[in-house]
Amino acid sequence: MKFSNQLIYWYLQKNRDLPWRKSKNPYFIWLSEIMLQQTRVNQGLAYYLTFTKEFPTVSDLANASESKVLKLWQGLGYYSRARNLHFSANYISNELNGKFPSTYDEIKKLKGVGDYTASAIASICFNEPEAVVDGNVYRVLSRYFGIKTPINSSAGIKEFKKLAQTLIDSTQPGTHNQAIMDFGALHCKPQNPLCETCPFNDSCIALATKTIKELPVKEKKVKVKKRYFNFLVFISDDNKTVLSERKGKGIWQGLYQFPLIETEKNVSKETLQIENSSEIGLLENLVLFNEKEIVHKLSHQHLHTKFWIVKKGNLPKNSINWKDVEKYPVPILIANFLKNFNPSNGYF
Ligand code: ADE
Repeated sequence: MKFSNQLIYWYLQKNRDLPWRKSKNPYFIWLSEIMLQQTRVNQGLAYYLTFTKEFPTVSDLANASESKVLKLWQGLGYYSRARNLHFSANYISNELNGKFPSTYDEIKKLKGVGDYTASAIASICFNEPEAVVDGNVYRVLSRYFGIKTPINSSAGIKEFKKLAQTLIDSTQPGTHNQAIMDFGALHCKPQNPLCETCPFNDSCIALATKTIKELPVKEKKVKVKKRYFNFLVFISDDNKTVLSERKGKGIWQGLYQFPLIETEKNVSKETLQIENSSEIGLLENLVLFNEKEIVHKLSHQHLHTKFWIVKKGNLPKNSINWKDVEKYPVPILIANFLKNFNPSNGYF
């Protein structure tokens, strides 16, 4: 049997009795789909009933004050959803004469509506064969087809939408879409899926290869930390500078760098001088080399970097001749600076 037929066969026996399923009114479906994003069906249900009672039409929602809408939304979280609903209700009411848009493309133009919501409304209310891809769909498809592409990568997003689109039953796209979502929520669950009684257990790749627990794959998004680096490029009267080796476990271990002052944010010359006066009380002749900070991107951190030229009469004993600087291993960020910098240019 075709994937979609099998799915719909399952759905006709097991589907959830939900109030918005009794309607094809796009306004109601829109409300329910927005409410159910990042929210469990059980939690969204009460809000759906309240909103449809308080605002039975899109114009009622448009005519309400934003604070009333937000008050009724209270507890559901992600409040931009409520503000976008209210904004779009006004748009439909004023610009579209209260008529809800009726194609995927037009629906997707509404503020707060993306591919998922537009596909859900267009398929359920207007029979347009646009496949929904939500968390449930990712799980069902990645397991059934054994797909390891991360679902939160741009390649994954494209691949799963394309696949979902090939599976949709174009004679009943709304039923197909709701069937696959319910199947993911109730049967092919994240934990303890019901594989023994699954209608697909003779053809599911993940079950056959014992990879149910590994699928779907999600890419870990690293949080990028911003750091602010101020390198002090000393120039002495006898043409020397200071380089020091980076010790410890952090970045650039064993490489050399100009003396570094790391700050909490981007700082001006005055702040740099004042805040470091005790440490380097003699930062008098200070000139910024790069007006625009250089952002050096590493996998987990972005280094917002400024090179400050500091003129000094003389430097401590461990200083080195400028002509020897090129002999030291330095990070590429400093190597690039050195390519553009000539200590004999008059910077002062
Ligand atoms: N989750 C969000 N919308 C849904 C729908 N229409 N059917 C099943 N699950 C859903």
